[in-house]
Amino acid sequence: MITLTIDGKPVQVDQGSTVLDACRKVGIYVPTFCWDERLDSIGACRICLVEIEKMPKLQVACITPAVEGMIVSTQSAKAYGGRQSIMELMLANHPLDCPTCDKGGECDLQDVAFLSRQDSSPMAEPKRRFFTSPESTFDEKQIGPLIYLTMNRCIVCFKCVRFTSEIACEGDLGAFERGGHTQIAAGIGEAVKNEFSGNIVEICPVGALTSKPFRYKVRTWLTQKKASVCNYCADGCNLTLWTANNKIFRATSRRNDAVDEGWICDKGRFGVDIVNHPKRITSPLLEKSGQKLEITWEEAYEFASKSLKSIKEKHCSNSVAAIGSAHCSNEDNYLLQKFFRSVIGTNHIDHRVFYKNPLPASNSICAMQNSIEDLEKTGLIFVLGCDLTVEHPILGLRIKKAVTKLGQKLIVANNRGTKIGKFASQEIVYKFSSEVAFLNAVAHQLLQSGLVDKNKLRVPSEFESWLKEFSSQRTADDCSISASEIEAFAQAIGRAQSCIILLGRDVITHPYHKDVLQAAQNLAYLAGLFEKEFSGLNLLWEYSNSCGAQDMGVLPDRLPGLIPLSDSAYRAKLERAWNCKLPEKSGYNVKQILEAIDRGEIKALYVMQEDLIANFPDQGFVRKVLPKLEFLLVQTILPSEMTKIAHLVLPGASFAEKEGTYTSDEGRVQKTQAAFKPLGNSKPDWQILRELSLWMQGPFVHYSSQEISEEIANLVPAYSGKQSNKLSLTGERILSNGQPNVGDYQLKRVDFQPLQPNKEYPFHLLTGNLVSHSGTLSSWSASLRAVAKEVFCEISVSDSDQLQINNDDWVEIESAQGKLKLRARISDRLREGTVFVPINFPEAPVNSLLDKDSLVDTVKINKIID
Ligand code: SF4
Ligand code: SF4
Ligand code: FES
Repeated sequence: MITLTIDGKPVQVDQGSTVLDACRKVGIYVPTFCWDERLDSIGACRICLVEIEKMPKLQVACITPAVEGMIVSTQSAKAYGGRQSIMELMLANHPLDCPTCDKGGECDLQDVAFLSRQDSSPMAEPKRRFFTSPESTFDEKQIGPLIYLTMNRCIVCFKCVRFTSEIACEGDLGAFERGGHTQIAAGIGEAVKNEFSGNIVEICPVGALTSKPFRYKVRTWLTQKKASVCNYCADGCNLTLWTANNKIFRATSRRNDAVDEGWICDKGRFGVDIVNHPKRITSPLLEKSGQKLEITWEEAYEFASKSLKSIKEKHCSNSVAAIGSAHCSNEDNYLLQKFFRSVIGTNHIDHRVFYKNPLPASNSICAMQNSIEDLEKTGLIFVLGCDLTVEHPILGLRIKKAVTKLGQKLIVANNRGTKIGKFASQEIVYKFSSEVAFLNAVAHQLLQSGLVDKNKLRVPSEFESWLKEFSSQRTADDCSISASEIEAFAQAIGRAQSCIILLGRDVITHPYHKDVLQAAQNLAYLAGLFEKEFSGLNLLWEYSNSCGAQDMGVLPDRLPGLIPLSDSAYRAKLERAWNCKLPEKSGYNVKQILEAIDRGEIKALYVMQEDLIANFPDQGFVRKVLPKLEFLLVQTILPSEMTKIAHLVLPGASFAEKEGTYTSDEGRVQKTQAAFKPLGNSKPDWQILRELSLWMQGPFVHYSSQEISEEIANLVPAYSGKQSNKLSLTGERILSNGQPNVGDYQLKRVDFQPLQPNKEYPFHLLTGNLVSHSGTLSSWSASLRAVAKEVFCEISVSDSDQLQINNDDWVEIESAQGKLKLRARISDRLREGTVFVPINFPEAPVNSLLDKDSLVDTVKINKIID
């Protein structure tokens, strides 16, 4: 430790600290503009000048190392005068347009000017101007789809440029020219549209960078701020929602170092505009003669309860099914399954609408073994079957930090190139669906190279000899990669001190997902990852509360806590708590529910905040079967084809309008505050379920979101102590016990099942999210639509050559199910024989090409000739 004195106060700081760190430690304010503890300090603005004894010149506190015995003065006349001169120089060119600047009220320059009480300037020269009009200081330029730059206001602190290059590791923003002529600008011919671009607006200390959706809409001091959590991907970034008059004006980061370190992606930042979409459904709607009539809540509950009761009485409890949502809170989902199990008496409950072939639920909580922070501590990160930047932007950002700042190693393997791949020491792009062969071959290499600790791990000889089928040479052919790629990866994982494996969407949706998981588990076991520190195998679920919906038991064969229905002791516990008899037989998953509707077995369906027509991987089938229902109730925030055909539509509240808890991928249970009252007559989903239950003489009498959260904490072992009033605003992790115990683990053979070529439809159809979208929910966001407007398909270079297709040509993607007309994008990230179509655009529904019964989805590509 170093001891120094600041303004007469002794302070001890760690070796390597700066004078500014020391000042902050004892709560002494020194103004800063260019400094941010998350960025490398460069001492650009010089506003943090302080006087240090025995140093003739004033020193810049943010880059001056603290030294033993140093005596620092921040308030001496010399220090104060130095900072005043810096302010004069800044204001010499900075326009004094605070009254009309969008940053007014939250501008660091304005605050420092206010604190230093400088009300005059010796500078009389004309101000330096950039850009166009001599009349106005609004000389602004749009530098990206959602960002404006007003260069006249720039104080050249380089925070935006440093964030872009150091943290986002992008190159779409730079500083050009030098000295007083320095200009911040997008790269020539480029726009700033990396997936983290909004952070530069947030960290700009002045009004030089402003957000297109937010600017000039409201003054910040007229808003209220509420703590929330992003409702798109499962990373669980913390948000502050800025609201006024029942409207969200913007979302900014709410720093939680364990999760996001104060950065959020543009999807989370700008996609909150869906909350105030003008088409929000705000009243219950009843279908009558092809029209939707607004009705009261009493009429809606009366109609819903009568319909559900009469169908249940006429048929049976199992003629009713329910779909929950990976975007709804734990409380909403918990109450949904409780209502359908206890009041209706059915286990036909699911929420996995994106998957035709869902992975069996695990027997423990589904969260990651490792924390997000572990990514910085592990020796090797291995990403398999995951377009990380797209699916989990903040995990991607953390991994970039681990690689570029902390020297961690990254290896990426996927069926197509991914953006995170450029940070990898090894990027393997294997043939579609060859993961099992690849993983087995790596396992074989580990054994062959003596990299498995056989003193600790049990490796049956028959397993080892079976694995010999997967020689690197033979497997290289199966995977269309080289043998040396397999061998190099085996060496890396076998020799790593620690390794975290991340499995993504391509594994969850894989035709043989159970096999891929098993092969990955075998590999993790052989590499010793079940017992090494900062190591583990992690399956990354996709949406904001995918983990919570599973943990709450919105599954046909699992009770809350993912406890199997067959666990009679736990079932009895719930029966006592809920005062009911629970159905014992497993229910249907989403696909089976739809098939049962088709057979006439299920007559009533309750859908909470999900869109089966837009998202289930066989749109034609959903469209065919839903009209067969006697009763379809859709509880939602926005209109859709589902609400058109529903008998009853109930207006749920958005995530921003309700309190609740959500469980992120790392198992962090985080709470949200209601930012304002639910719009119009809409209500939180849990409240609708509670009131409907009362209407049906169900047991949910006095029940608030908080009380539901307490019940969850009491009844779900993993959530013990996680009731919302006990959680801090940064949340708390439930600890996953899903990793097999190394002593009990048994290696299992997993045979590789190669896919047979399909002559009529020769291309494998890959689907997934775009980086600026999440499912079809984000398609309602005007801001995100400004970034990614139009659907397209990606075709590999060699296929496009062969089919003579150029960029932007119209093509028809045709499957046995249907056709889509799309613009072609030639992509060097795709392998020959694959085509990628995003899932995010309901107007070009890729699920209309999919078949719920086919293992893989194949298409042909027809060039459209005008
Ligand atoms: S635009 Fe803002 S963040 Fe960027 S250099 Fe200028 S003042 Fe700093
Ligand atoms: S979409 Fe994911 S990464 Fe982006 S802000 Fe939301 S939680 Fe964070
Ligand atoms: S804050 Fe220290 S030089 Fe800018």
